[in-house]
Amino acid sequence: MLKTDFLVIGSGIAGLTFAVKTARRFPDKTITILTKANTDETNTKYAQGGIAVVNDLEHDSYAKHIEDTLIAGDGLCNPDIVEAVVKEGPERVNEIIEWGANFDKDIQGEYMRGKEGGHSEFRILHYKDITGSEIERALVEEAKQYSNINIYNHWFVLDIITQHHLGYLVTKATPDITCYGVYALNLENNSIEKILACCTIMASGGAGQAYRTTTNPRIATGDGIAMAYRAKARIENMEFIQFHPTALYEAGISPSFLITEAVRGDGGILRNKDGVAFMKSYDPRADLAPRDVVARAIDSEMKRTGTEHVYLDCGDMDKHKFQQHFPNIYAKCKSIGIDVFLQMIPVAPAAHYCCGGIKTDSVGRSSIINLYACGECSSTGLHGANRLASNSLLEALVFAHRCAEDIANRIDDMHFHEGVPDWNASGTNDPREMILITQSLKELQLVMSDYVGIVRNDIRLHRAMSRIDLLHNETEDLYKTATLSPHLCELRNLITIGYLIVKGAQFRKESRGLHFNTDYPYKSDILQQVVL
Ligand code: FAD
Ligand code: SIN
Repeated sequence: MLKTDFLVIGSGIAGLTFAVKTARRFPDKTITILTKANTDETNTKYAQGGIAVVNDLEHDSYAKHIEDTLIAGDGLCNPDIVEAVVKEGPERVNEIIEWGANFDKDIQGEYMRGKEGGHSEFRILHYKDITGSEIERALVEEAKQYSNINIYNHWFVLDIITQHHLGYLVTKATPDITCYGVYALNLENNSIEKILACCTIMASGGAGQAYRTTTNPRIATGDGIAMAYRAKARIENMEFIQFHPTALYEAGISPSFLITEAVRGDGGILRNKDGVAFMKSYDPRADLAPRDVVARAIDSEMKRTGTEHVYLDCGDMDKHKFQQHFPNIYAKCKSIGIDVFLQMIPVAPAAHYCCGGIKTDSVGRSSIINLYACGECSSTGLHGANRLASNSLLEALVFAHRCAEDIANRIDDMHFHEGVPDWNASGTNDPREMILITQSLKELQLVMSDYVGIVRNDIRLHRAMSRIDLLHNETEDLYKTATLSPHLCELRNLITIGYLIVKGAQFRKESRGLHFNTDYPYKSDILQQVVL
């Protein structure tokens, strides 16, 4: 058994930021970070475009960033949260700069600012096209400065401990569900440990792996959202899955390599197989329309022309600037035989970001006492029905800070709960056939991609739900009898994610933001968040 004052699940931008802030403030308290892979294997590491922040009040304003965020969110953002994130953003970004994160500057020493879909101004700070990797590097180094932060790699968190594990009946209606810590599988010795904490912070990232084609790395299996749902936390807005319009199309390769939207911000043009620049016929903002619009337009062009992808034309872009801003993309394309100045890049939409998640209040508290959530696994009210590009790194910084502040104010009320039983693994055996897990995962990903993708309808959603139901029953049977492994637990979590997305989509009898249902092609007059 392990005991820690603060338990953080996840070592991306959200988890590490929380940990550093809390470690500084409380040098005599312990902060334990659990992560199921290597420390830096996170969605954060793969972020390309950058971090949206108003840091040039001469040319930009908070009001504009707020408005851009609200427009993208299509009526479902919480305006107070949008204002808070936009206005607190600059201070939070300055903090990580102080901790050593680099962002590109011009020869005058001014920050260079990029533009992406839905932004009215150039405001995206970036480090070449590997912003996330630079932020992750800086945060990991900063976290290592604190002797009261312990990072445990290759610990797979299985479940949140609540009164349910003490033998009480816990339902959604139970008023005081409380988190006492987690059970986690130590992948080095395959033992399941109980970890008790005064306070637990879920920072477990996204769920792109629910789809066959995704920009998300393999760790993005929605574990935190699924375990919070099992623990009866409120989960909201899961139907709003953001598809990035321009993932590099390479048949059979997953995860897909991202071609950042910043390429379009710098002049890249989308063309169909006939070479036609089609975006203007879909939206006056053309290639820089918000992501939902561009992804749907590409989807429609692909269906109309019977192709698996469209093209991104960078032929007229400044070669020197491209190589400076996008060296990683340039090299990746080169490695598969594409010279971006001579050939167009084949691109197609891919599942990219989960706008919904664990519902939190304005300081990151979930509906379970002593369980906080920040980063991609949370639903704070910032994104509404569609996230504005490059707002998620910002949200993670602001909410990690808000969680840390709120916990600091409540620290005297938080205590360990003794008497939590050990995990009971009796009656389980190693699964005889791995194919039972891998095939189910493939089926789930296909169902989600084919029936619950960019364009949905009622029949597809109904079919998806019955297939998910079957996969759920089969997997629960396996779970009850098999020794636990990350593969099995991730499959189980992804099935829950699929269920939550489909359920949310079925509730929403309208088309709004990222959710487009051809049976209800218009927006309803009633604004509602789907909370499950
Ligand atoms: P992550 O960084 O994903 O970290 C999750 C952590 O949780 C990992 O350490 C993982 O191991 C751990 N974890 C998960 N499950 C378990 C478990 N069961 N047990 C133990 N540990 C677990 N956003 C922007 O704002 N700007 C961008 O330019 C941008 N570009 C992107 C490009 C790509 C290719 C991708 C995939 C995303 C991009 N995003 C971007 C989105 C952004 O990167 C993520 O939303 C953000 O980094 C999420 O951070 P996080 O801390 O919430 O989670
Ligand atoms: C990108 O660089 O296009 C991704 C930005 C984001 O997801 O916010």
